[in-house]
Amino acid sequence: MRRMLVTGGAGFIGANFVHYTVRNHPDYQITVLDALTYAGNRENLNPVADQVTFVHGDICDTDLVDQLVSQADVVVHFAAESHVDNSLHDPEPFIRSNIIGTFRILEAVRRHGSRLHHISTDEVFGDLPLDSDERFTEQTPYDPSSPYSASKASSDMLVRAWVRSYGVAATLSNCANNYGPYQHVEKFIPRQITNVLIGERPKLYGSGQNVREWTHVDDHNAAVHLILERGRIGETYLIGSGDERSNREILELILQLMGQPTDAYDLVPDRPGHDLRYSNDSSKLRNELGWRPQYADLESGLAATIDWYRNNTWWWEPHKRRTEAKYQLLGR
Ligand code: NAD
Ligand code: TYD
Repeated sequence: MRRMLVTGGAGFIGANFVHYTVRNHPDYQITVLDALTYAGNRENLNPVADQVTFVHGDICDTDLVDQLVSQADVVVHFAAESHVDNSLHDPEPFIRSNIIGTFRILEAVRRHGSRLHHISTDEVFGDLPLDSDERFTEQTPYDPSSPYSASKASSDMLVRAWVRSYGVAATLSNCANNYGPYQHVEKFIPRQITNVLIGERPKLYGSGQNVREWTHVDDHNAAVHLILERGRIGETYLIGSGDERSNREILELILQLMGQPTDAYDLVPDRPGHDLRYSNDSSKLRNELGWRPQYADLESGLAATIDWYRNNTWWWEPHKRRTEAKYQLLGR
């Protein structure tokens, strides 16, 4: 058995990663470290509770991190503050968890020689023009726009420096926008699905022209496992399905799949500094490691996600009102 520490394993992607690992890689003995912030939910791990050790704690806690990393062969680091709108409103937790927290993980990995995989985002590269075929590559210079992406860019830089200066055995990945079950109702797709479910009108920022590359969370996590198994130490891999859609297209698709008129939404004031378009060239991951997205059809992936929210109101209802109250303060 290999011992794996998953930070942020009670959040959206981390919890799906733990489920995926239990299903597909039973040779890992998993410990989750999660602070259970507003975005973390221990219930996300209910289906695998018997196979996973859960530790409630903070990645900034030097002693706790040191102890857990000393007992791990592999560390997969998801824990972070993850929402751009929150970072615009209050950047400080992003600096703390994303930068200081990653520093603590790196120092513990340096002391104990564990293998690290650092999870990051394509938002570190800034944005691309709307009407172009340009894509981010592993060589694209960092140019983050929001406090969130700046904090993730900082964490990536720390990981690269620890690889080069201290020989830490780390890999990095920068994934495009994810969707799937257990995503917090603050994020675009779950916010709109649950708005429809409670009879509220969905909210589209600005003119809805901004483009995102939507990747199913299981495809992201399959890529992370390939990188853990066969990725080259010190290397970065971009992850993305190749399926780019404007926010307006996604929203109209959600409305159509939910049997609503496709114009039944409100335009709300735009997010300040709103990145126009993200698009990853994931050919390194595809050519070197043979990754292919299994959820190639976004329509059916979205339909399954809508079903999940419809069938799991117990999971999101308690968070919906507080999330919408936050948005009301932001005017969005
Ligand atoms: P999330 O907000 O749903 O979950 C984050 C988890 O980290 C929560 O369980 C939270 O409790 C935990 N956490 C936060 N601060 C912590 C701390 N100081 N100590 C311990 N635990 C802490 O986020 P997510 O969408 O699952 O994102 C996970 C990772 O993937 C992040 O690093 C994010 O930058 C990256 N990422 C996300 C996306 C996306 O579309 N959501 C895309 C690419 C990369
Ligand atoms: P989000 O899920 O916050 O991800 P990110 O900003 O990290 O890409 O938002 C995805 C896109 O949807 C982004 O362009 C902002 C937009 N958006 C809306 O139009 N309405 C909303 O209610 C939300 C939350 C986001």
